[in-house]
Amino acid sequence: MNMIQNPKAYCLVFLFLVYCLTSCSDVKYSQGEALYLANCSSCHMPEAGGVAKLYPALNDLRNSDVKLDALPCIIRYGQNKDIYSLEMEGLKNLSSIEINNIINYLLNDINGIELEYSIDRTKGNLQNCKDTD
Ligand code: HEC
Repeated sequence: MNMIQNPKAYCLVFLFLVYCLTSCSDVKYSQGEALYLANCSSCHMPEAGGVAKLYPALNDLRNSDVKLDALPCIIRYGQNKDIYSLEMEGLKNLSSIEINNIINYLLNDINGIELEYSIDRTKGNLQNCKDTD
């Protein structure tokens, strides 16, 4: 009996679709998500909502003063603005590719900004960090 005639085959396909609908995630940058959860979420929170004046939210970057091209430098070297009570230390252990993936996760998956931030853009900005201090 071939597959088309076998009702069990349809059943399996149906179960697979149900499984997909309930468990396939629509996160586009899943490596960025994993890196964000491991390196940023303890302060900025898993959904990036932040904590009052302690840890800024990262889920409203459209309306934030943070410039997109400052993101690579903030992640690697940290930031210390007077408006927040705490300072952010840089995450020196992250490679430029990992930083790039986190930025793309933040933009696309958290903020719904459809923009592929290129690795060249991340690397270029990392080279100019000292100028943005
Ligand atoms: C130990 C806590 C901590 C961790 C971990 C951390 N941050 Fe921060 N982050 C802060 C604090 C505190 C500030 C505010 C610092 C300031 O400007 O005074 C900040 C600021 C920022 C800003 C600037 C926001 C603004 O509105 O000015 C960005 C962007 C940012 N963090 C991204 C990240 C990303 C991405 C990660 C992970 C790779 C990360 N942070 C990890 C504590 C943290």
